[in-house]
Amino acid sequence: MTTNDAGVKALEPYWMPFTANRAFKQRPRMISAAQGMHYTTPAGRQIIDATSGLYCVNAGHGQPAVVAAITEAAGRLDYSPSFQFAHPQAFELAGRLTALAPGDLDHVFFASSGSEAIDTAMKLALSYHRARGEGQRTRFIGRERGYHGVGFGGISVGGIPANRKMYGAALGGIDHLATTYDRARQAFSTGEPEWGCELADELNRILALHDPSNIAAVVIEPVAGSTGCIPPPKGYLERIREITAAHGILLILDEVITAFGRLGHTFAADRYGIVPDLVTFAKGVSNGAVPLSGVLVRKGIYDAHMVGPEHLPELFHGYTYSAHPLAVAAALATLDLHRDLGLNDRAVALEAPFAELLMSLRNEPGVLDIRPVGLMCGIDLAAKGGAFGKRGYEAMERAYHDHDLYVRIAGDTMVIAPPLVATGDDLAEIRDKLAVTIRASA
Ligand SMILES: Cc1ncc(COP(=O)(O)O)c(C=O)c1O
Repeated sequence: MTTNDAGVKALEPYWMPFTANRAFKQRPRMISAAQGMHYTTPAGRQIIDATSGLYCVNAGHGQPAVVAAITEAAGRLDYSPSFQFAHPQAFELAGRLTALAPGDLDHVFFASSGSEAIDTAMKLALSYHRARGEGQRTRFIGRERGYHGVGFGGISVGGIPANRKMYGAALGGIDHLATTYDRARQAFSTGEPEWGCELADELNRILALHDPSNIAAVVIEPVAGSTGCIPPPKGYLERIREITAAHGILLILDEVITAFGRLGHTFAADRYGIVPDLVTFAKGVSNGAVPLSGVLVRKGIYDAHMVGPEHLPELFHGYTYSAHPLAVAAALATLDLHRDLGLNDRAVALEAPFAELLMSLRNEPGVLDIRPVGLMCGIDLAAKGGAFGKRGYEAMERAYHDHDLYVRIAGDTMVIAPPLVATGDDLAEIRDKLAVTIRASA
């Protein structure tokens, strides 16, 4: 579909997020329906979804139980105030999530987006330290190439230059660890690369500079997702956990992409055998059907806040849509599906064949690296004519228009993260469609 002038005008009012608006409006990539592994275009073409929407539809599209739960909730309780009142399903969901969470993360604060979850986690880290008489702990440490959404907290600890450069100083008092990615040492690794654990020791250098007693928290993703899927080197996260724990620094693990099966566990923390202090989640928790996010916290963090007059809120923070009834209904139904379909085990079983299929693309033109881990994978393509992102854009466009494939790009990297319900045939189809797309965009 290309648009004539009148068509472009009709598309003009919508300022699309993280989108090349002018290019899109000249040649739109519309989606009008979805079911299972597929999107449907307005013209009726079926397009296979290789990135679970934006890494959120882990249980596949249009799951009848999720649809029914949302419909029922909408008819029964469209909205319930989240401040000073609550609805019973919010407590049910909190109980189920905390039962699934690692270690003693036994309380959960709800929000709607990953960005809100990160802001909440950062505020909780500050208020926790202050409540304990360590209010000088105000500094945060993020990581280069990290993505933590688009709030001022998230872009400050995040490490994607384009997301930061237009927005002034954002939050002060932030340092960044180096990215763990080094193509020369890690290219074409399957799973967690062997090299790079020692990069965690850089944290000690930053701590020495500021003194550990001034640091509130380290904020990192287990696998850096949005930047193009960078798995952690073997032992890296464990080392970060050791160093933070040794200095009373909180570890905020941003599991907005990695939770709910993407790495074969409900939380990636379990894959790496670590217990963070706070875990942010979103996306897959409600299968993307209604926005829901949250922060799981260790018992001590909740307890430290439960002071002061009992008639006043202990924490002056929250959202109109925290634990929205429709979102909670979607999440409860999604958790049932995860259990009933055994999606974690499925991801574990698919991990090796998925990696093998994608690695078979390594000799396609201009493929610089392939990084599969769990059921996600980054494929770096050589830039075209020195123009950053042009090849990636063309690959995404051709995939949609010519090869019936939806794939997310980050610059010149394609990120594959199919629904966990994918069959072997679905994965083979995605692989073959990627191959033709890569060739066509070379
Ligand atoms: C790790 C991580 N954190 C936070 C976010 C922000 O989530 P949202 O877009 O819902 O604000 C994302 C989104 O992709 C993410 O991948």
